[in-house]
Amino acid sequence: MMLILIVSGPNLNLLGRREPDVYGRTTLADIHARLERRAAELGCATLPFQSNHEGALIDFLHAHSDDAAGAVLNPAGLTHTSVALRDAVAAMPFPVVEVHLSNVYAREEFRHRSLIAPVARGAIAGLGPYGYLAALEFLATGHYVLQP
Ligand code: DQA
Repeated sequence: MMLILIVSGPNLNLLGRREPDVYGRTTLADIHARLERRAAELGCATLPFQSNHEGALIDFLHAHSDDAAGAVLNPAGLTHTSVALRDAVAAMPFPVVEVHLSNVYAREEFRHRSLIAPVARGAIAGLGPYGYLAALEFLATGHYVLQP
């Protein structure tokens, strides 16, 4: 069965409690549960992972480079700083969709630059938890071409 990784970086374990005016009240567990249900409808499976550690995120991607068909990745703060995570994404044989809950372009200038975006298949920002769902649907259904 097609496996889609759902990878979230630093501080996203605090989702629901962390700056709720920016990130909302939905927890990461809620997002993972919603994606698991949607994946079942689409005939694929999700494997969620969150870490506050750059190396752990990289190790997780490496560990699944052969069995995953794609990844939804919210690199969180590492988006703007991590050459190592970018290199790991570039090394993956499957497409990675970058997701941000908040509209990073409407926030501080340091959030406007992503080191990940150039090596991602695409990026979604500002749609809240729906961004994770849209990225999953894209990866699971391969709707690269709009269906009439
Ligand atoms: C974030 C945006 C990042 O700038 C920030 O560091 C995060 C979360 C988002 O989902 O909006 O931790 O990736």
